[in-house]
Amino acid sequence: MNFNLENRVALVTGGSRGIGKAIALAFSKAKATVGIVGRDRLALQQTLKELKRSHIHAEAFVADLKKLDEIESMVRTAQSKLGSIDILVNVAGIAVLEPAESVSEDSWEKVINTNLKGQFFCASRIGSEMIRRKKGVIINVSSEEGIVAVPGHVVYCISKAGIIHMTKVLAVEWGKYGIRVNCIAPAAVNTQMNQNYWLKDKKAYKWVVDRIAMGRVSEVEDITGAALYLASDLSSFVTGHTLVVDGGISVGTPRKE
Ligand SMILES: NC(=O)c1ccc[n+]([C@@H]2O[C@H](COP(=O)([O-])OP(=O)(O)OC[C@H]3O[C@@H](n4cnc5c(N)ncnc54)[C@H](OP(=O)(O)O)[C@@H]3O)[C@@H](O)[C@H]2O)c1
Repeated sequence: MNFNLENRVALVTGGSRGIGKAIALAFSKAKATVGIVGRDRLALQQTLKELKRSHIHAEAFVADLKKLDEIESMVRTAQSKLGSIDILVNVAGIAVLEPAESVSEDSWEKVINTNLKGQFFCASRIGSEMIRRKKGVIINVSSEEGIVAVPGHVVYCISKAGIIHMTKVLAVEWGKYGIRVNCIAPAAVNTQMNQNYWLKDKKAYKWVVDRIAMGRVSEVEDITGAALYLASDLSSFVTGHTLVVDGGISVGTPRKE
């Protein structure tokens, strides 16, 4: 058993950039067939080019995962172009950071529909075929903020906590079909998501780093090992689990000298 994903078909939502792109590239190096999903055609095409350098079959699919009809049509197209999906990695997500007392309905709908509804219906519609085939792996990307409460991040925290519990329910509901459902909870990753947050604000950056035992923020490559492990047969008896990849941020705040 190893990280070789040859003859497996993986679909990575949010695969156009950031964490999803890094996971898609890691899977391509492990020889999986890879599909990526996002809304930005140009970014998808650029990533597709990079995936094909590993000489694997790769395809890109445009879909707004807030919308069930777009999810269902994307899943049908992906299955016809790639074949049955063995591994779904639910990465697509957004963050809107607003204090609880002034959250708008629009922010609530955007965050909950992308992070929670999008992940759930991708799992549901791809899971139905996994049930027929009696095998499959689903990996949901939550966040350390689904475990630790962060002030000003209420809707994002709620959506990410929901993903952790959704992972457990699906694991229990679908274990009898040979489907494993797990979750990764990253923290403080150097991606576009943080461009308008701690990446542009020295004070916020220091606040983030000061909370991390490892003393640095995460790069996308820090997350790919967890995804490879959970996708491969090395984790054949692991299900319903949330693998926290956060440099220790959820464990405790390091004492400053
Ligand atoms: N960065 C962090 O510090 C961090 C920490 C913990 C957890 N996470 C989680 O990791 C995941 C990836 O984050 P990231 O940092 O890589 O962010 P990112 O660079 O902003 O990438 C987000 C990805 O999600 C896709 N996406 C967003 N909304 C979508 C929609 N409605 N339909 C389809 N695709 C959509 C984006 O593609 P398009 O824009 O083209 O649609 C993009 O590919 C998210 O779930 C995030 O919550 C991130």
